[in-house]
Amino acid sequence: MRSDFQIYKHHRALIFDSGVGGLSVVGEIRKHLPDLALDYVADDAFRPYGEKSEAELVNRLPGLLATLSYMTSPDCIVIACNTASVTALEAIRDKVDIPVIGVVPAIKPAAAWSRTKTIGVLGTPGTVRRKYVDSLIQRFAKNCQVVLQGSVNLVDLAERKLAGEVLDLNDIRREIAPLFEGREGADIDAVVLACTHFPLLLDELQQSTRQTIKWIDSGAAIAKRVEVILNPIEKPSRALRKDMAFLIGPNSTPQRKIAFRSYGFEQVVGLVPG
Ligand code: DGL
Repeated sequence: MRSDFQIYKHHRALIFDSGVGGLSVVGEIRKHLPDLALDYVADDAFRPYGEKSEAELVNRLPGLLATLSYMTSPDCIVIACNTASVTALEAIRDKVDIPVIGVVPAIKPAAAWSRTKTIGVLGTPGTVRRKYVDSLIQRFAKNCQVVLQGSVNLVDLAERKLAGEVLDLNDIRREIAPLFEGREGADIDAVVLACTHFPLLLDELQQSTRQTIKWIDSGAAIAKRVEVILNPIEKPSRALRKDMAFLIGPNSTPQRKIAFRSYGFEQVVGLVPG
């Protein structure tokens, strides 16, 4: 009889994001599947993805993920980035021969939860522009007013927080104010955190709004999806190695490396693009 413990101990997943955002997903995976081995790649050299064109992301990501998959031999890849998922998921799947799980902005649960039937979607400028998000709204939030707000600065603020900086709440307020300004703004009771960096700012977001908001992200749903995907894949025992985080690009600060370690990545190494 196989037990979950034996299965996950020998499985490995590769978590990918443009920076620290994927750590919000890692937190949920660690909670739900504590024995699963993880590697992490942060594409610091190309961040912010939210300002890149579709063509730029589709050109970069499939080849990069194929290389990283070869390098780390995972059983599945988690694209822990909304912008990359809504833009390049199919192109990445075409390039690698293992399951690839993407992040779907949590529009469906937010629309179902909202009492006022007025929800906000806070993502990167790239994500809130993509057709994929329009089609989620058409499918799951037709009965809701949906206010979209894109922010690149919140991504940078999350990076700075995990690099050890104390944030000024006025900077957060300025980024989310447009959500609540318009006619529908006052009715918003749920906001989709459609960027994996944003759950890392949950405390600051809560402190920066006057109205009571339910902030909804996709982290727990992804952890469940990883379990569904990996569960049927039988794995023979293999030598276990440490969980590693690879940071593509310029040197990270010691504080940022500590942040990765606090999420269970025992080794944090820089990868210089050649
Ligand atoms: N964390 C990413 C997301 O979920 C993107 C941040 C960025 O690089 O713009 O969209």
